[in-house]
Formats: sequence, structure tokens, C-alpha cells
Amino acid sequence: MAMYATFIDVALRVWFRLRMIAIRPLFAAYGRRFDFDPDGIYSFRTITVGDDVSLGLRPVLIATRAQIRIGNHVMFGPEVTIRGGNHRIDIVGRLMKSVTDGEKRPEDDPGVVIDDDVWVGARAIILAGVTIGRGAVVGAGAVVTHSVPPYAIAVGNPARVVRFRWDVDTILAHEELLYPAEKRFSKSYLDKLQRCEKLSALQRGNDDR
Ligand SMILES: CC(C)(COP(=O)(O)OP(=O)(O)OC[C@H]1O[C@@H](n2cnc3c(N)ncnc32)[C@H](O)[C@@H]1OP(=O)(O)O)[C@@H](O)C(=O)NCCC(=O)NCCS
Repeated sequence: MAMYATFIDVALRVWFRLRMIAIRPLFAAYGRRFDFDPDGIYSFRTITVGDDVSLGLRPVLIATRAQIRIGNHVMFGPEVTIRGGNHRIDIVGRLMKSVTDGEKRPEDDPGVVIDDDVWVGARAIILAGVTIGRGAVVGAGAVVTHSVPPYAIAVGNPARVVRFRWDVDTILAHEELLYPAEKRFSKSYLDKLQRCEKLSALQRGNDDR
């Protein structure tokens, strides 16, 4: 029985790999070490993926006209959804379902960018127009309606930045170890990001009162 279970396990893994290899060329572009679930749902020709990317189990990545761009060293938990576009909901006298893709404006399909070294938690939903910055983390179950700054951790619905992974000096040290000088963020840019996030958190706190 144990041998039979091992045989089935190996056969299923091989079948999974073979299907992945067969389907992979349908993506607009992809790099080395790209793993994805062949049972996920993808608008292949509008999705580009970098090196060393794992899209997790059963993701739904759909952009009919815009692009979903995923960088390098990105990992998704299971069942992440990315939507690169919206239906039009603004035309008076028209049923929403009757509006065709051809009637969409560029702003209806702004696409999604996931930068390098991002971790997206299980069942997160990332909506059109969002950029997830380098090194950021999206919590499980988050609904991301606004862009997430580099190295931030965003959770909840709607997703809010709860903190940054590190202070600015630690991010600078981290980037120095990983990226060439011309690709690193500057101290002033990172300072500004963290100040802005603190300010919006304060403003939200005031609004809630
Ligand atoms: C985002 C995440 C990494 C944060 O972990 P962390 O840094 O340890 O965060 P903390 O546990 O200190 O949480 C900070 C706050 O955010 C809240 N929080 C954390 N994750 C959350 C989530 N996914 N959704 C909503 N709130 C969340 C915590 O309750 C806490 O709030 P509090 O201060 O009011 O108590 C983690 O919670 C997460 O969602 N991981 C994804 C797991 C996953 O999907 N794995 C799949 C395998 S790839």
C-alpha cells in the first residue's frame, strides 16, 4: 500500500510538471525557475513573469487588456487573485454586462505590477492599478486597492500598511547586499515613504474619531 501511495504521488508530481511545461509558453514572457499551478486561471498573453517566481496553488490572474507584470524572486501563497481591469460602471442607460471590452478606456484597465522580492499571502486579492513595491509583504486575505510601498507590510480589507519590515538604515544595508548601486533606493526616498505612511496612518486615526 505504501509503495502504491508513493507511486501515485510521484506520478501526480510528474503529471503536474509536464502540464506546467506544456502550458508555460502561453505566458507573454517568463524567466528561469518559474513555478505555477497548471490548474490556476490565467489570461496568459497579458502576464509577464521574471526569474525565480512561484505563483502558489490555484491563483486567478486575469487582465483582458492591460498587463500583469511580476518581477523576480516573487512568491504567492495559495489562491491569490489579481485583477488587471474593471468593468465600466459609469454609462447611463446601459446594462453593465452589455458594455464590451472595446468600449473600455485605458483607465478601466490599468494593470498590476508586482515588484521584485514580494511575498503575497494566501487568498489576497490585488485590484487593478496597484503596484506592490520591492520587498513588500501582502498579508493573507488582504484586499489591496492602493499601491503598497517598498518593504511595507500591508494587511486587511482594504489593505493598510501596518509597518515596514525594517527602518530605513536597515533597508539600505539590505539593499547594499542584494542590488547594484544604480538599482538601490536612496535614503531620502525611503525616509519620505516611511514619513508619508506614518502621516496617512495618523490621518486615518483622526478620521476614525
Ligand atoms: C502579513 C504577515 C506576514 C504579518 O506577520 P507579522 O509581521 O508577524 O505581523 P503581526 O502578527 O505582528 O501583526 C501585526 C498586526 O497586523 C495584524 N495582521 C497580521 N496579519 C494579518 C492579516 N493577514 N490580515 C489582517 N490583519 C493581520 C495582526 O493582527 C496585528 O494587529 P494588532 O497589532 O492589532 O494585533 C502575516 O500575518 C501573514 O498574513 N502571512 C501570510 C501567511 C500566508 O499566507 N502563508 C501562505 C504560505 S506562502
